[in-house]
Amino acid sequence: MDKKTLKDVRKSFLSYFAKNDHKIVDSSNLVPNNDPTLLFTNSGMVQFKNVFTGLEKRDYKRATTSQKCVRAGGKHNDLENVGYTPIHHTFFEMLGNFSFGDYFKDVAIELAWNLITKEFGIPKDKLSVSVFSEDKEAFNLWKKIAGLSENKIYKISTSDNFWSMGDLGPCGPCSEIFYDHGDHLKGGPPGSKDQTGNRFIEIWNLVFMQFEQIAKEERINLPKPSVDTGMGLERISALLQGTHDNYETDHFKTLIKVSSELTKTKITKDNIASHRVISDHLRASVFLIAEGVLPSNEGRGYVLRRIMRRGMRHSHTLGSKEPIFYKIVPTLIHEMSDSYPELIRAEPLITEILKTEEEKFSILLARGMRILNDNLTKVKNNLLPGDLAFKLYDTYGFPLDLTQDILKNKKMNVDVSGFDKAMAERKKTTKLAWKGSGDEAVDKIWFYLREKIGGTEFLGYEHNQSEGVVLSLIKKGKEVQEINEGDEADLVANQTPFYGESGGQVGDTGYISNSKSNFQVIDTQKKLGDLYVHR
Ligand code: GLY
Repeated sequence: MDKKTLKDVRKSFLSYFAKNDHKIVDSSNLVPNNDPTLLFTNSGMVQFKNVFTGLEKRDYKRATTSQKCVRAGGKHNDLENVGYTPIHHTFFEMLGNFSFGDYFKDVAIELAWNLITKEFGIPKDKLSVSVFSEDKEAFNLWKKIAGLSENKIYKISTSDNFWSMGDLGPCGPCSEIFYDHGDHLKGGPPGSKDQTGNRFIEIWNLVFMQFEQIAKEERINLPKPSVDTGMGLERISALLQGTHDNYETDHFKTLIKVSSELTKTKITKDNIASHRVISDHLRASVFLIAEGVLPSNEGRGYVLRRIMRRGMRHSHTLGSKEPIFYKIVPTLIHEMSDSYPELIRAEPLITEILKTEEEKFSILLARGMRILNDNLTKVKNNLLPGDLAFKLYDTYGFPLDLTQDILKNKKMNVDVSGFDKAMAERKKTTKLAWKGSGDEAVDKIWFYLREKIGGTEFLGYEHNQSEGVVLSLIKKGKEVQEINEGDEADLVANQTPFYGESGGQVGDTGYISNSKSNFQVIDTQKKLGDLYVHR
C-alpha cells in the first residue's frame, strides 16, 4: 500500500474522479446557504441537495469534492465521542463522488472498488461490504464486480444502511466498505453484536440516492436515481499510513506535537485524549470562525462555544494556565491553507476570537472546577445533581456536555432531567422579570416592527459587508421618516452582515452609507430573535 500524507490522499482522490469525467467542485461552506433546517454541512451531498431533487440544474452530471463537515449537533452528532475513539471528529473532510442521474449502483461500485484496490493498493482480502438487506441488486453487483464471496457481503436491515442527510431531504439505501485492521483489535464484522469495536472500520459509504423524504411519513422518488458517496479523509489516510487511528496520521501528529509543546506535557496514555480533543476542536473552531460563526449563546454560535470550551477545558486539565488555542493556529493554517485559503484571510479574526474566548473562559473554568470538585464528595449513585450542573452552566458558562465530559473520567454522570427542570424554571423566572422591567414604549416598537417587516436576514456568516434596504428609522422609541446629523437613532434593514448582541457576545460596529449619507453604527442589538437593530 502507498504511504500517503493527508494532502496526497485528498489530491489522489479528486484526480482519480476527475480522470473518470467528474468535475472537481470546491467544498461549500460549513454554514449551508441552501438549507435553513440544517445546523452545519454534515456531508458532501449537502451542497448538491437541490440538484438531486431536480430543483437546481448544473452543467455537469458527475462531481467530486473534498467537503468540510461538522458533526456536532443535529442528526449527525459526534461531539461526545471525540477524544475517546480513534475515528470520531467534530470537524472532518468528506471525500465524495456524485452522479446526478448519470450512473447508478454498478458504476459507483466499480469506481470505488478500483480506486481502493488498484490506485490505493488496499489488499482485497482485508475488505468486506454491507448492503441494505432489501437491496439484492447491490449484493449481486458486489459479487460480480468485486468478486467478493457471499460471506464478505453483510446484509443489514437497520438505518445503518439507509442514509439520510437530516429529517427531510434526499435519502436512499447504502452500501458500506469495511477494512479489517486485524485481530489485535477488538470488534466484530458489521451487523454482529460487537461491531462497534475498532477492528472493522467503515471506510466508504456509497449511497444510492433514490428518494426524497418530504415529510415525516412521506417519501417520494427522486426524478432520477443518483449516487452520493462519503469517505472520511482522515480515516482513509490513517489506513494508508498503516494505522487504524486517525490521530496517528501525519496531520494530527503535527498538531498534537504543538499542543504537547505548548502545554509542556509529554504524551502519555492518560493524557492522549486531551491532546486529541484539542487538535480536533481547534480544527472545528478555526473553520467555523473563518466563516464568521462567532461564539454565542444560541444556535450555531452556541455549538461553536461548546466545542471551544470543551477543548479549552482539556488544555486546562493538562495544566496550561495561558491560552494556547490561538498559538496552534499558524501550524493548522500551514497544514490546510492550500485547500482552504479562507483560513489565511480570516487568520486575524480567528486568533482574536480564540484568544479572547480562552482568556474569558479560563477564569470561569477555574472557579467552576473548584465548585464542582467541592461538591463531588456529596454525589450519590455517581449522579451529579441537575441543579448543580445548572449552576455551573448558568454562572460559570459550563455547557452541559462539558460537565458530562469532565465527569466521564470519574465514571460519573449528570442528572439530566434535573438539569432540564432547573433550566425550565430559570426560563420562567427570566420571562416574568422581563415582562415587568423594560421600557414599555421601546419594547412595543420592536413587536410592532417585527410584525410589520418580519425579521432581518443575517448575512454575517458569509460577509462582513453587504447591501440592504432601510426599512425603518427609529428615534426615541418612535418610527420616523428622517434623522439628521448628530441624532442618535436606530436603523432596521431587510438584511445585514452586522452581528447583533445576544447572550454576552457584543454587537458589531461599523458604517451604513449611501451616496448622500453616512450612519455610524455604534452597536447592533438583536431583538425578538431575528430583528437586527443598528444603533
Ligand atoms: N452522504 C454519505 C455519508 O455521509 O456517508
